[in-house]
Amino acid sequence: MSDRRAIGVGLIGFGTIGTGVVKVLRRNADVIEQRLGAPLRLLRIADLDTETDRGVDLEGIRFDADAEGLVADPAVDIVVELIGGIEAARRLILRSVEGGKHVVTANKALLALHSAEIFGQAARRGVDVAFEASVGGGIPILRSVREGLAANHIEAIYGILNGTTNYVLSEMEETGEDFAVVLKRAQDLGYAEADPSVDVDGGDAAHKLTLLAAMCFGAELTCKEVPTEGIRGLAPIDFEASREFGYRIKLLGIAKARREPGSERIEARVHPTLVPVSSLLARVDGAMNAVAVIGDAVGETLFYGAGAGELPTASAVVGDLMEIARELRRGNAGRVAPLSYVPEMLEPKPLVPLGELHGRFYLRFTAVDRPGVLAHLAGVLGEHEIGIESVMQKGRGGARESVPVIVLTHPAGEAAVRAALDHIDELEDVTAPTRLLRIEQEL
Ligand code: HSE
Repeated sequence: MSDRRAIGVGLIGFGTIGTGVVKVLRRNADVIEQRLGAPLRLLRIADLDTETDRGVDLEGIRFDADAEGLVADPAVDIVVELIGGIEAARRLILRSVEGGKHVVTANKALLALHSAEIFGQAARRGVDVAFEASVGGGIPILRSVREGLAANHIEAIYGILNGTTNYVLSEMEETGEDFAVVLKRAQDLGYAEADPSVDVDGGDAAHKLTLLAAMCFGAELTCKEVPTEGIRGLAPIDFEASREFGYRIKLLGIAKARREPGSERIEARVHPTLVPVSSLLARVDGAMNAVAVIGDAVGETLFYGAGAGELPTASAVVGDLMEIARELRRGNAGRVAPLSYVPEMLEPKPLVPLGELHGRFYLRFTAVDRPGVLAHLAGVLGEHEIGIESVMQKGRGGARESVPVIVLTHPAGEAAVRAALDHIDELEDVTAPTRLLRIEQEL
């Protein structure tokens, strides 16, 4: 006999996360129903691969490759999109919304490019598009920002938003191995994709930061605008030297509000960053994520947990399903604006150019090892008003051999540092482009 209270769910994409969703819906059906007052019924699954055994019980679930049929099925109240990618996912989500269905997705890449279109369409149709799983995996960071911290002016949000790169950085530091060796291990262990670019080049973190910046600051922006630098250029020497100076290297997404009289601009950037070893973020190892949010009323908050993986991500997807199901039962879908601000208050906010940033820098020069070279480097920095806090040379080269010379600067403007490096990298004694890393002392 069918249960008329049940909420019908259709799942598109039966990979790792989709399998996790089936597992959570099955094994936690009791607590889900107790909290919801009604069962969530997974009615259909669509995936192009209908052969692979996912090791889960599919009794009572129609499983085929017909995603369009699933979206059009009147018994399905909520569509879960877990196929990833842009175009097919966008089309299926928009079609679901047009058909009056609610959507749950983990697709940060899609939302970081097309949130205005998707949320706009959802608002017009009076349906929800929920996306907690798209940032921080199992960490309920979006709901916390949107609801728990809604009373605050958010001053800054920053953190480790990508587990793959955090695993690679932790291992490089621990083992002293090269990037390529560690990346291969991450791929063998299933942390990194066969094509790891979106993770290691910082794109995934930029997608997530784009969504967080919208929620924290009402900033309408796309991930294409966020200055993004990945971790490929890091060498074992950077970890060793940073450690000796008292820092660890983390790939951070950082967004801050710059509120000045008559204007509000946003800092948003993704790059490898030196953080003090004593900071909480420095202690986040392996594939874990951590996000700090600073609000004017609440002060500092820190959210930590598994940023990826089958069950943690499924936890966020099913949490979204339950929130929408509750609203469906109460008849008040669309209760909370998806990006926290009511849509008409979201507006493009200018980004602060990197050249305007002011901070401390780690500079790794590659220079031949002969008397006077260090003085020359220091002289050029001095001409650009850049003070030196510490210097370290690793190894002994010679007039023909290069060595790394590492400098930590006093606070300086990034434009001045860039101008100095343009000059230094042209010097005869400097044999490779200088590596610049930013230091965030306060995180
Ligand atoms: N590939 C991401 C990561 C997880 O490594 O954190 C999904 O966003």
